[in-house]
Amino acid sequence: EQGQDRRRPARGLDFAPVAPNTEDRIVTAEGYESAVVIKWGDPVLPGAPAFDFDKQTAAAQAKQFGFNNDFCGLVPLTHDRYLMVSNHEYTSESFMFKGFDAANPTEEQVRIGWAAHGLSVVAVERDGRSGKLLPKIDRRYNRRITMTSEFEVDGPAAGSALLRTKADPSGRKVLGTMNNCAGGVTPWGTILSGEENFNQYFANANQVTDPVAKARLARYGLSGGATTRKWERFDERFDVAKEPNEVNRFGWVVELDPLEPDSAPVKHTALGRFKHEGANIQVARDGRVVAYLGDDERFDYIYKFVSTQRMRPGQSRWARAHNKKLLSEGTLYVARFTGDSPASEIGSQTPPSDGAFDGTGEWIPLASGDKSYVDGFTAEEVYVFTRLAADKVGATKMDRPEDVQPNPVTGRVYAALTNNTDRGKPGKEGPTEINPRNGNRHGHVLEWEEKGGDHTALTFSWRLLLVCGDPAATDTYFGGYDKSQVSPISCPDNLAFDRHGNLWISTDGNALGSNDGLFAVATQGPERGHVKQFLTVPIGAETCGPVIEDKFVLVSVQHPGELDGASADNPMAHWPEGGSAQPRPAVAVIWKPGRKIGE
Ligand code: FEO
Ligand code: CA
Ligand code: CA
Ligand code: CA
Repeated sequence: EQGQDRRRPARGLDFAPVAPNTEDRIVTAEGYESAVVIKWGDPVLPGAPAFDFDKQTAAAQAKQFGFNNDFCGLVPLTHDRYLMVSNHEYTSESFMFKGFDAANPTEEQVRIGWAAHGLSVVAVERDGRSGKLLPKIDRRYNRRITMTSEFEVDGPAAGSALLRTKADPSGRKVLGTMNNCAGGVTPWGTILSGEENFNQYFANANQVTDPVAKARLARYGLSGGATTRKWERFDERFDVAKEPNEVNRFGWVVELDPLEPDSAPVKHTALGRFKHEGANIQVARDGRVVAYLGDDERFDYIYKFVSTQRMRPGQSRWARAHNKKLLSEGTLYVARFTGDSPASEIGSQTPPSDGAFDGTGEWIPLASGDKSYVDGFTAEEVYVFTRLAADKVGATKMDRPEDVQPNPVTGRVYAALTNNTDRGKPGKEGPTEINPRNGNRHGHVLEWEEKGGDHTALTFSWRLLLVCGDPAATDTYFGGYDKSQVSPISCPDNLAFDRHGNLWISTDGNALGSNDGLFAVATQGPERGHVKQFLTVPIGAETCGPVIEDKFVLVSVQHPGELDGASADNPMAHWPEGGSAQPRPAVAVIWKPGRKIGE
């Protein structure tokens, strides 16, 4: 009630923050309502059977909303009508099946897992009277993409020998997408989605003896024997000892056109192969498009891609057909960041004595079409083994880059660096100005400005907006704002912007002990750095895929009820249905009756 509380809230952020809690429900800022839009198992395609937890089949799941929805994107159709696209990042079988025997999954359980992965396209309509967003079984547009849907490989590595398999000697047709984490909506109305932790699906890297192949696998986190899911027992493409190149066909950014339901989804090799968190597009002044990309791994990198061709305006068939090729041809860069404060001040005070964690940076080219800029790598090798190429050019090792997203109002770019508990451990890199904490449990949020505001520029200046954690702790920083007034925030993951240019941040893995949630913060003006919690998700869940519209907010509630000791045999939380029901991942809508969000 004191001091800055009496300051005017930033435009669009007039709400009282939610207090940290561990409830088994969505807790919103006062005056807001919430409802489930769609949850795991709900019908998506015509003819989908009603969900029956105790009688699941792969055929039913292939027509129903998949498991563990992460990214959520909206493509507008008409007023208050949208196509909603959700990523189904991964499956947790012990929460999907009672009596699940992890050592011996049945073939049907594995096939249900394949069908529960991928993407869903669902038509949704906003009901102006109730404020709810209602899913529709739209015969034309609704779609499920699963582990067995056909993708086209596109760009400079399409058809490469590194991508050919027994089942696909062309190296141009891949079945399925996996571990789709975050993503973005393009200006031409398609969805981009990042294939993230694909390594966990491939068995028997430990049987590979060729040292080059082994090192490539190891750099992508593949070194073990059997996988947890045991998919390799039912399809040998998941066994790298039997099909060495199948793994190279995952770890891409995929593009799906929900407006053309008969079109094949595409894997874009020009954007490189790593543990793609997602991809977000910014149109540069000259009309070329820039994709910002994060590789979510401890000590991995931030990338950008600049297209060769310019975007054609409008949504005509002709313009869209052209724009859907923009991510096929261009230059891939990786970021190097340099701080401007003495090393002696890093890790010892917050912020350094010049008042900011800040500095400059450059974009280092890796490849462009069939030209490689990296010694010892062909262009194809740069695209397929991008991490190794980026290692070679001295890119900056970051604390797990998640969403990297431009602010459509200011043009500044933001990256969520979720955490890195290994920083400073023996043999690992210690703190630097841009990743300033040893054992970084709570993560931070980075902001940069491309030189001259030109997104194709090769240099930039950067600063940290937030160093997350308990505001009372000395190692946190909230853009210089009075820390006694901010909400605690930990492990930023997904980013979104409202029309005022406020940054919205969803969290994954709150290391402060309360539930994950959605936060908002002004990026400009006197309220810059004033983080406020807008909602918390139910216990055990992470918050992802925020969509901030004028009249509503969407969040993905991923893995609700996944608590230590819990399983389908012992559910310890029951959202959204309550009672003794199994918890189910879902998309939720939040709105304020009669008002816009934040007003
Ligand atoms: Fe799937 Fe990087 O979170
Ligand atoms: Ca500094
Ligand atoms: Ca994520
Ligand atoms: Ca995450």
